Amino acid sequence: MKRTMIVAGVLVLGAGAVMAQQEIAIQQDNLMRAIAKNQYGVLQKMSKGDIPFDKKAADEAIANIEADVAKIAKTFEVNPKQDVVNATYGSSPKVWQNKADFDSKIQPVQKAIADVKGKITNVASLKAAYTAINDRCNDCHETYRVKLK
Ligand code: HEC
Repeated sequence: MKRTMIVAGVLVLGAGAVMAQQEIAIQQDNLMRAIAKNQYGVLQKMSKGDIPFDKKAADEAIANIEADVAKIAKTFEVNPKQDVVNATYGSSPKVWQNKADFDSKIQPVQKAIADVKGKITNVASLKAAYTAINDRCNDCHETYRVKLK
């Protein structure tokens, strides 16, 4: 009886850990999705003319990206050791093998944002800002993001 209870307890603990890990993976994915919502859903669409140019909305999107990018280092602190169920992209194990290098990819995004902040006046300057930021996102994705499907 005692033994059965211990086994059950271990199983429950194990399930809890798995859930916590999935939760961490989801938080990491949600942060990237939030960034993408502004980068692709606003800046890219506006720079392509899919939505009308709106300086205020562009400035807001950039401010949101700036706030979210500042959360990357902390949000990716723990290795969830699993991908979000059904996700298209996952994190490479390299993130946690080389967390200092991973973190070093954040500052260039912040610099690209600082360089364009408050300087967007038309579609041309928006397009340049979008590309400058996106190139730095890709510098991290190249090494640390994995396509799952
Ligand atoms: C320091 C590294 C790093 C930086 C900088 C970074 N990302 Fe990511 N990104 C990742 C990793 C790792 C993943 C894969 C794990 C995940 O999806 O949570 C990812 C995933 C994504 C995804 C896929 C989400 C999904 O599952 O559909 C998008 C979209 C994305 N990033 C957009 C951006 C944009 C836009 C920027 C720049 C403004 C950016 N990222 C900056 C590391 C980074």
